[in-house]
Amino acid sequence: MKPRVLVAAPLVGDAVERLRAVAEVEQAPHVLTEEELLARVAPIDGLVSLLVHRIDPRLLARAPRLRVVGNHAVGVDNVDLAACAARGVVVTNTPGVLTEATADLAFALLLDAARRVTEGDRLVRSGAWQGWEPTAHLGRRVHGATLGIVGFGRIGRAVAARGRGFSMRVLYTSRSAAPPEVEATLGATRVSLEALLAEADFVSLHAPLDAHTRGLLGAAELARLRRGAVLVNTARGGLVDEDALVAALRAGHLVAALDVYRDEPRVPAALRALPNVVLAPHVGSADVPTRAAMATLACEGVRAVLEGRAPEHRVS
Ligand code: GLV
Repeated sequence: MKPRVLVAAPLVGDAVERLRAVAEVEQAPHVLTEEELLARVAPIDGLVSLLVHRIDPRLLARAPRLRVVGNHAVGVDNVDLAACAARGVVVTNTPGVLTEATADLAFALLLDAARRVTEGDRLVRSGAWQGWEPTAHLGRRVHGATLGIVGFGRIGRAVAARGRGFSMRVLYTSRSAAPPEVEATLGATRVSLEALLAEADFVSLHAPLDAHTRGLLGAAELARLRRGAVLVNTARGGLVDEDALVAALRAGHLVAALDVYRDEPRVPAALRALPNVVLAPHVGSADVPTRAAMATLACEGVRAVLEGRAPEHRVS
C-alpha cells in the first residue's frame, strides 16, 4: 500500500503531481486552518506544511503514523523540532531557493521606505497631490549610505550584494564570522549588534527566529538606532518587540518596512495607523520560480524519507 501524504495547501507548479507517483496524496483546496489540519493528520505518513502551521506535540499526538514533515519554508520556527526528534519524525525545509527572491524584497522595501514610494502612492490616489515642488516628499539617500545586516547567512549575504550595487558601506553582525573571501567579495565588515545599530542608516534583519533571537530588537536596541534610520524586516516578526517598534515609530525615531509580524496575519491597528511604516503581507519568497522550487523541495523531502533515502535538507 502506498504511504499517505497530506499537502496542507495548494502549491505552485507540479511537485504534488510528481509526489502522487509514490504516495496517496490528499491536497487541500485552500491553506488548512489549524483545526482542519488537526482533523486530517490521523492516517498520514507524510505532511507538506506551511509556516502558518504549528507542528507541535498536539499535532504529533494525533498523527501516530507520521514519519516526515516537509516544511514549505526555510524558517522552521513553526515546528517543535525537539518534539519531532523525540517522535522520530524527520523535518525538512527549503533553503537556498528563496535567497534571491527574499533579498529582492528586502531591497524593494528598503527603497520604498527610503524614497517613500507607498506613501507617495497614497498621496496620488487621494487626489491631494499638488504637483512638483523642490521641497516636497523628500526621502533618504540610499546610494553610499551605511547598510547594517543582522544575520549573515545566504539571504543576508544576498542583501549585502545588492547594497554593494548601490555603493553602500556594508556592516554585518552574526554569531560567527563569514569567511574572509566572502567578506572581501561583499565588502562587508563584521561588527557588534550595538555598533551596527549605532552606525547604520539602514538595518535589515536576516536571522532565524529561535530562542537566541526572539525579541533581539527591543526598546533599548531600537533607541540605539540613528534618528531617521530605516528598519527592514523580511525575516520573522518575533525578532522585534512589536510594541517597542510602534512606540519608536510613533515618536518619529525611525522608519520601517515590514514583511513579517509577530502574530500573523494579525497586524496591530497601531502599526496600520502609522504613515512611516511600509507593510507587506509576508511575500519575501513570492515569485513564481521561487515558490515552484520551494514546493519541489518540500515534496521531495517527504518523498525521500518515505522511500528510505536521506532528504537533501534535513533539519531534525
Ligand atoms: C518564509 O518566510 C520562509 O521561511 O520560507
